[in-house]
Amino acid sequence: MPLVNISRILQSADNGGWAVGAFNCNNMEIVQAIISAAEAENAPVIIQASQGAIKYAGLGFITALVMQAVQGTRIPVALHLDHGTSYDQVVRCIRSGFSSVMIDGSHLSLEDNIALTKRVVETARPVDVSVEAELGRLGGVEDDISVDERDALFTNPEEAYRFVQETGVDALAVAIGTAHGLYKGTPRLDFPRLEKIRALVKLPIVLHGSSGVPADAIREAVRLGVRKVNIDTDIRQAFVNEVRRVLDEKPNEIDPRKVLGPAREAAVEVIRGKIRLFGSAGKADEI
Ligand code: G3H
Ligand code: ZN
Repeated sequence: MPLVNISRILQSADNGGWAVGAFNCNNMEIVQAIISAAEAENAPVIIQASQGAIKYAGLGFITALVMQAVQGTRIPVALHLDHGTSYDQVVRCIRSGFSSVMIDGSHLSLEDNIALTKRVVETARPVDVSVEAELGRLGGVEDDISVDERDALFTNPEEAYRFVQETGVDALAVAIGTAHGLYKGTPRLDFPRLEKIRALVKLPIVLHGSSGVPADAIREAVRLGVRKVNIDTDIRQAFVNEVRRVLDEKPNEIDPRKVLGPAREAAVEVIRGKIRLFGSAGKADEI
């Protein structure tokens, strides 16, 4: 099946009240793990490339790996740029074959974020590439953050409304209390804010920094309109823990396949669990 853009998947997710897993890939084994897990669960899936992954593997290698992985698969797969940094990078990814892009102007002023995102939408839409954008700041958010601090960092619902009206994006990533990487404590999500944003923008909402977020919180976020859930850290952790376990068990092992093979299987298990949690298992045929 050829790559699909994420709008098609998100529309179906919206109709059914579930979310699609967007899993970050960094190497061949993780690309294979994402596809194997999605096939085993008969789920649509998004494979995404972060800035770190592009730097590590190169855009050409990532695209080629994913193109190879989707050959012969019957599940819908999207290849998505994660946290795109510039208009030029978006164009490079579209030319390379990506079916979806994120432009992350969340560090810019609202006006500049709107202008950049709008330009990306105008370029991507005519070639059937979907666009995700971000409003608000993710980060190391402490448990005892004050209401004022929350308001300064988290996505403002009224600004979100204006943002989607003026840009025409397909999906909006929001800041509601998640952070990238490992959490020190348990993240507390601002569900009333999510509900308000969703009621105003009426678009699929994207949750970044979803590794380590408790299952109940993920379920509630999906109930309130999150339709794309991004997972990176949980996969990396499972992968590297398994590498460590194998090498502890067999310190003289010199065959990378015997180390990376089990790590790939560990990644498959984590991804399958996420797919079931997000409710996308069995939904491949609905796209
Ligand atoms: O864009 C990618 C994600 O937001 C991944 O976040 O590493 O906390 O799972 P995570
Ligand atoms: Zn992210």
